[in-house]
Amino acid sequence: MLRVAVCVSGGGTNLQAIIDAVESGKIRNTQLVRVISNKHGAYALERAAKAGIEGVTVAKKDFADTESFQKALLAAIDEAKPDLIVLAGFLVVLPQELVAKYKGKIINIHPSLIPSFCGDGFYGLKVHEAALARGVKVTGATVHFVDEGTDTGPIIAQKAVYVQEGDTPEVLQRRVMEEAEWVLLPQVIDQIANGQL
Ligand code: GRF
Repeated sequence: MLRVAVCVSGGGTNLQAIIDAVESGKIRNTQLVRVISNKHGAYALERAAKAGIEGVTVAKKDFADTESFQKALLAAIDEAKPDLIVLAGFLVVLPQELVAKYKGKIINIHPSLIPSFCGDGFYGLKVHEAALARGVKVTGATVHFVDEGTDTGPIIAQKAVYVQEGDTPEVLQRRVMEEAEWVLLPQVIDQIANGQL
């Protein structure tokens, strides 16, 4: 059984896709052991609770400085003894110590085809705003390993999504989630859990 910890900051629709895929058997040999949120009251925590997964909040505002926040985050992850850490809309720059300790065991989902529209400042709706501003006709999502940089780690999988006439950032974000993110992330976890990667 692959022990998976999922880190979230918000609504958790990617988390939900993972939960559903484990329940339906699309993700095999995997146990979701802990959901870690950096935001109190994130809806993702409710999704975790409904699925019977332990939820933990480690919020920066509860700590005196960045160092103590980072220590607590690392501790929350270590306690879960994960084989894999999934960043599913986690809006925190990971401490270097964490990246080094779990090298090759942290994956992230990014809502564009890397190397387009990624790196510092490209998160959430901003990614889709930039894609529309540039006028691309195809965008998508990328699952990649996490290294020391922002969205710079080795690419594992990508899925393309067509931009449509009249798309707003919100509409495009939704299509990228439905057609790419919610499909790709469970697939990659299943592959890792079953030695196919
Ligand atoms: C997704 O677009 C993900 O790719 C990005 O943040 C968003 C998170 O959405 N990094 P959710 O919390 O999974 O609904």
